[in-house]
Amino acid sequence: MLSNQAAAPGKRTSLHGHWSSRMAFILAVTGSAVGLGNIWKFPYVAGQNGGGAFVLVYLACVAIIGMPVMMSEILIGRRGRRNPIATMALLGAEEGKSANWKFIGAMGVLAGILILSYYSVIGGWTLSYVFKSAVGVFADATADKVTAVRDGFVASWSTVALFHTVFMGLNIFVVARGVERGLEQAVRFLVPALLLLMLLLLGYSISTGYFDEGLAFMFKPDFSKLDWDSVLAAMGQAFFTLSIGMGAVMAYGAYLPEETSIMGSATAVAIADTTIAILAGLVIFPLVFANNLDPGEGPGLEFITLPLAFGQMPGGTFFATVFFMLLSFAAWTSAISLMEPAVAWVVEKFHRTRAQAAVMIGLMIWALGLGTVLSFNVLADFRFLRGTIFDNLDHLTINIMLPLGGVLITVFAGWVMCRNSTADELGGSGPLYKLWRLLARFAAPIGILFVFLKAVGLLPDLS
Ligand code: PHE
Repeated sequence: MLSNQAAAPGKRTSLHGHWSSRMAFILAVTGSAVGLGNIWKFPYVAGQNGGGAFVLVYLACVAIIGMPVMMSEILIGRRGRRNPIATMALLGAEEGKSANWKFIGAMGVLAGILILSYYSVIGGWTLSYVFKSAVGVFADATADKVTAVRDGFVASWSTVALFHTVFMGLNIFVVARGVERGLEQAVRFLVPALLLLMLLLLGYSISTGYFDEGLAFMFKPDFSKLDWDSVLAAMGQAFFTLSIGMGAVMAYGAYLPEETSIMGSATAVAIADTTIAILAGLVIFPLVFANNLDPGEGPGLEFITLPLAFGQMPGGTFFATVFFMLLSFAAWTSAISLMEPAVAWVVEKFHRTRAQAAVMIGLMIWALGLGTVLSFNVLADFRFLRGTIFDNLDHLTINIMLPLGGVLITVFAGWVMCRNSTADELGGSGPLYKLWRLLARFAAPIGILFVFLKAVGLLPDLS
């Protein structure tokens, strides 16, 4: 998918090649955005944070903060055409400011490594459900049975570790070969197929008779359930699900052809991503209420509700197998992008081959992932700060590192880069450009900082 076509004269080209078309780029970023964040994470954090009001804040964050951050990341990436660390250093110096902006790139590389360490464990868990579904474990299963299967899986650290290893191995394999081969084809088929299966599940969840409850839970805002911590979680979720704030989109932007519209691409990705998350919620919550489950169940929510639904429908064994396969694929196209900034950095900085870089970084991430593997069993009672090792990694990366990266990236694009540079990348200085600039300079950074400071209690309550 990356071709080595020359860019316009006078413009930089990427060492790693370029996407063959606008569609290839949109598919790659959609592949990165659509993943466990939409189907595993969104419903369970929405559930833990009381539903409706959380969902509204999340949607507002996607529009007001997510869009300008994503556009900033793509434009920075395309202008620098290096790995995120080198790009930030290069552009910082080029704009006559400091090359120390590279530390934002470095924080992103680190965030990608930390996120993938647990993402891979959940990815492995998803993979294991492909096999469980295929052998018919969930056929006609009751809620108790499905819960027992889930508990049994997470209780065995060696099984969790095994699937984490397989998942990580697959990532290393693909990243080593170069993300271009296969990814485009995979995503082209994956996103529509996932959407179709989600619609099938939606049909089932409507038929449970609890669809209204699910709908009300998701869209009837009860602001009394919302505290600043939930607002921060909604904002963090917007970052996580759009893959922004850590340089993944920046790294992909580095391979974007000059003529492609950044605004158009970012809009397409955000719409696809949000649609899948909302659909996941509409599927999962009616099932929660139909089966008397707890919406605040936590990270295992998806692994209980969906097998239960599949177990009851005709052809369920087949559909469940296909569904968990698609979800594993979706997780995999996201995982690749979590590794890309680190791998591109090692390749460029230390002159390693992609294969060497992928193995090095991959092994490190695998080892870190063992902390999350044990968080669900052996070390489940080892709690500090926010909870288990997994809970802390999750909070640190999603609620702190990504928003912080987002503030710094928009400040860089809005304040450090001059108007000419950003207008050049965003296709002129028309009204949409002005809107982006307003959001990138003011709304996004101020909004993120405000929520952040409120959540850690550093801003006083005026009410
Ligand atoms: N957006 C991905 C998901 O929703 C996760 C991700 C986060 C990927 C950050 C890349 C960077 O599953």
